[in-house]
Amino acid sequence: MKFFTDTADVDAIRELDDLGLVDGVTTNPSLVKKSGRDIIEVTKEICSFIDGPVSAEVLATEADTMIAEGRKLAEIAPNIAVKVPLTLDGLKACKVLSGEGHMVNVTLCFSATQALLAAKAGASFISPFIGRLDDMGIEGMELISDIRQIYDNYGFETEILAASIRTVNHAKEAALIGADVMTAPPAVIKAMAAHPLTDKGLDAFLSDASAAGLKIL
Ligand code: E4P
Repeated sequence: MKFFTDTADVDAIRELDDLGLVDGVTTNPSLVKKSGRDIIEVTKEICSFIDGPVSAEVLATEADTMIAEGRKLAEIAPNIAVKVPLTLDGLKACKVLSGEGHMVNVTLCFSATQALLAAKAGASFISPFIGRLDDMGIEGMELISDIRQIYDNYGFETEILAASIRTVNHAKEAALIGADVMTAPPAVIKAMAAHPLTDKGLDAFLSDASAAGLKIL
C-alpha cells in the first residue's frame, strides 16, 4: 500500500519523508488555506523534494477552465496529479487531461457508481472519502470494498486512493480491503507506530540495560 500524506504543511511532509513514509502528497484548497501559502508556490516547494504523485486541486467548476487550470498545475512538475471534483465537468476535464498524459486524481467520491465513471474517464486515482461518510453514519469502508470489487471485475487500472482517513483503524481496514493508496494527515500516519506494549517493553529493556551497565557506544 502506498502512503500519501494529506497536507500542504511542508515541514510536516519533510518530517514524514525523513521516516520513509511518503510515497506522495495530496492537497486540497482547504489544506492550502490552512498552510497560509500561495497554491502554486507551496505546490512547487512540495514537488522540489517529493518524487511521487503530488495532487493539486483545480478551483474552477466548469470543464474548460478546469482543463486550463489543470494544464497550469501540471507545468509545475511532471509528478503533479491534477485533482478534479467528481462532477460531469470534472469527468470531462479528467478525460482531456489524462488524454494529454497528465495524472488525474478524481476527488470527492462518495459512491461506487461515481468511481466507475472516474475509471472510464481515465483517472489515475479515485479518492473515496471514508471519514466524511462515517460522519453521516454511513460505513465509509464499504465504499472502498465496493470500488475494489468493481475495478477488479473489469480490470480498471485506476488506483483506489482511500481518502478522508481519520484514524489508525481506517488505515488498517483500507489496507485489508486492498486500497492501492491511502492518504492521511501526518498525525494519523505517525500514530500508526504507537502501541502501549511497545512503550512498556522498551521501558523494561532500558531499565534492565541500565541495571546491567550495558553499553554499545
Ligand atoms: C483527500 O484528497 C482529501 O483532501 C482529504 O482526505 C479530505 O479529508 P477530510 O475529510 O478529513 O477533510
